Parts: sequence; structure tokens; C-alpha cells
Amino acid sequence: MSKQRHLTVLGATGTIGVNTLDVVARHPEKFKIVALTANCQVEKLYRQCLQFEPEYAVMLNPDSAGELRHRLRQSGRGTEVLSGVEALEQVAALPQVDSVMAAIVGAAGLRPALAAAQSGKRVLLANKETLVMSGALFMDAVRRHGAELLPIDSEHNAIFQSLPRNFSSDLSENGVRRILLTASGGPFRTVPLSDLENVTPQQACAHPNWVMGKKISVDSATMMNKGLEVIEAHWLFNTAPEQIEVVIHPQSVIHSMVEYADGSVLAQLGNPDMRTPIAYALSYPERIDAGVTPLDLFKIARLDFEKPDFQRFPCLNLAYQALRRGGTAPAVLNAANEVAVAAFLEEKIPFKAIPAIIEKVLADITTRAAESLPDVLSADESARRAAQSMVEAL
Ligand SMILES: NC(=O)c1ccc[n+]([C@@H]2O[C@H](COP(=O)([O-])OP(=O)(O)OC[C@H]3O[C@@H](n4cnc5c(N)ncnc54)[C@H](OP(=O)(O)O)[C@@H]3O)[C@@H](O)[C@H]2O)c1
Repeated sequence: MSKQRHLTVLGATGTIGVNTLDVVARHPEKFKIVALTANCQVEKLYRQCLQFEPEYAVMLNPDSAGELRHRLRQSGRGTEVLSGVEALEQVAALPQVDSVMAAIVGAAGLRPALAAAQSGKRVLLANKETLVMSGALFMDAVRRHGAELLPIDSEHNAIFQSLPRNFSSDLSENGVRRILLTASGGPFRTVPLSDLENVTPQQACAHPNWVMGKKISVDSATMMNKGLEVIEAHWLFNTAPEQIEVVIHPQSVIHSMVEYADGSVLAQLGNPDMRTPIAYALSYPERIDAGVTPLDLFKIARLDFEKPDFQRFPCLNLAYQALRRGGTAPAVLNAANEVAVAAFLEEKIPFKAIPAIIEKVLADITTRAAESLPDVLSADESARRAAQSMVEAL
């Protein structure tokens, strides 16, 4: 039997975090939770602490951490409760931890994920923003510190599964011609273009196939999510932008494909349930039960494919542009997107203002080489400021 894995789950109270703990709970002999983290959801993290009895719990928010500490003490639990960004980095780098699930949403996930890579952990990367913002730095940290990087995004996990086991990060050496990145097209794939002006956050978050956090749900509705995934694929698999083709596949059954030089196309299929890629990465290379309903091909009956409509989804184009521009441009794209999405969720701006704000921020901000974390963080900050002032001007 393989050794028990000792885990930190960053973003334990989110959709990915909860799915991770669901898989972990099915295999107590295989996984031990050392640390759990959240931002401010005290009740949820408290319940998770009662169930998994971690050594550490971290809440970004100090008041939330204080409340959690008090409640855990009252329940007679020995979990040490910490707060702040440094504590998130600390529990990602603990010597007794061998695997870190990086599932904080947004740019906030970058520093803890980087800390895990710099400590040579097996990093289960759900936080795609880490690679979008600092792909070169992060991949360099993985290589230099002997970390192991396993993608959690269902598409990248599917690509990883469809590549040769010892993929050397050189596509042509491995006979790979292209990566076909599938996308559901989100809730607005067929909505008349003129109606997009008035769509609400609730409609944007009602994804046809996946249950996800609010930010990634809006990203799916604008298809920025796919744009971020194109950038993520570029870094994970050392792929040029023109070797990544986005394919709309509304059923979300094929999670992505790899096209080889001999004409073979290998795909990974499954029901749209994040527990599959999570379980795969948690126990890699072993396969374990994830609690996922088996795929019923007779019930699905058909699989459809379409080309993406770049007019309907300008965010996809903006992401390709930022990737080609390079340096800090993807970090600028990501920051402007986070600000615009948050403003849309707060009903401060209409849906169609999201790509407009990102495009203007990308045009206005001078980007440069992303050679250090301060380069990336300062691009992130300037883009946030610029996007925020556009939100306020609307
Ligand atoms: N959901 C999916 O199916 C899916 C699929 C592929 C990739 N991903 C990626 O996985 C990541 C997580 O997505 P999600 O859908 O699980 O998000 P989510 O449901 O919104 O959960 C986010 C988690 O991050 C924590 N968090 C939020 N802001 C934080 C901050 N500033 N500092 C520290 N922790 C913070 C939250 O804590 P609180 O609960 O206390 O706020 C929560 O635990 C994202 O990068 C997303 O793109 C998600």
C-alpha cells in the first residue's frame, strides 16, 4: 500500500476545498489533513476542523480567526488557529506536509501556492490565477525546488492524463501536435447577443454543467475562464498559443484532448464532477474511488462541438492577446478581470462592461518583464487601481 499523504488544503471552505475533503473522507487510511485554511467562513471551517482535526487552521481575517480559536477551544480541540497571509504561506510549507491543495480563489492564492512550490511539495494546483500571473516564476520554482505539479482544473487534468506518463515538457519530442481545450460555453452560449447587456449575476452564476464558486462561474459566463486556462496550459505543458485550440463542447463530458502527429486524438471523459481530477491528483499515480457517478454514454447519447464565437466572448481574445504580449500582461489581465467581476457581482457594472474594462486596462498599462514576484505584484496593483477607477466612473 502507498504511504499516507499529509495534506494542507488552502481554500478548504470553497467548492474545490469541499470536494477535496469529500474525497479525503472516503480514504482516511490514505490521507491525513494537517492544515485547513479559509478567508472568513468561520462556521464552515469550524465544522471541517471538528471532522478532520487538523494541527493548524488559518483564516485570513484575524477576527474570524479569533472566533474560530474560541469555538475550537470550547469544543476541547487542539487545533492551532493562525491568521494572515504569512500563516497561509507557513502551512503550505510545513515540513510534515507532503501535498498542498492550492484552491484559494484569485490572486490571493499566488503567495501560498508559491510557498508550497518553493518547499518542494506535491502541489495540486486549482488556483489557475497563480500560473496566469506568474507562470515563468512559478514553473521555475517548481523545477528548482523539486516540487511536483499536478493540475486540478478538469481540462488540464484531462490533458495531463492524455499526455505520455513521463511527458518531458517538449510537445514535438512527445509527438504532440496540438492541445484541444474544451469549454462548455457557459450559460450565455446561445442567449441573443442583445440580451447580454441585461444579464444578472444570478444568471451568470447558473452554470449549465458545473457547480463552482461565484468568481469562476462569472469567468465561465464571459469565457475569461477559458482564456485563463489557455494561459495556464501554455505554462503547464510548454505550449505555444497557436498550439492550443479552444473547442466548445456543451455537454462537458470530454474534459480536453491531445492531438498527436500520427492523427490520434486522446481524450479523457467523465461526468462533470471535480472529484475526478481531485482524486486523480491526490493519489497519483494510483486510481481511487472518488464517489463520482459512472459515465452513462447511452444517457448522454451525443457529443457536440463548435468553434468559439470571439465576438460573443471578447474575453477569450483578450487572454490570447495578453499571453502573446507576455511579461506582466497576463497579471494585468487577471487583476482587471477580478475587479470587474467583483463589481459585476455587486451589481455596480453591467455584464458587458467586464471585457470593456479589461481591454482598456490592458491598453493603458505599460507591461514589462515578469522577472520577480514584486514585478508581478506591482503590475497586479496598478491594474487593480486602474480597473477600480473605471468601475467608479461608470
Ligand atoms: N470550482 C471549480 O469547479 C473549479 C474548477 C477548476 C478550477 N477552479 C479554481 O479553483 C480556485 C478555487 O475555486 P472555487 O470555485 O473553489 O472558489 P470558492 O468556492 O469561491 O472558494 C474560494 C476559497 O478561497 C478562500 N479565499 C477567498 N479569498 C481568500 C483570500 N483573500 N485569502 C485566503 N483565502 C481566500 C475562501 O474562503 P471563504 O470560504 O472563507 O471565503 C474559500 O475557501 C479558483 O482559482 C478557481 O479558478 C475551480
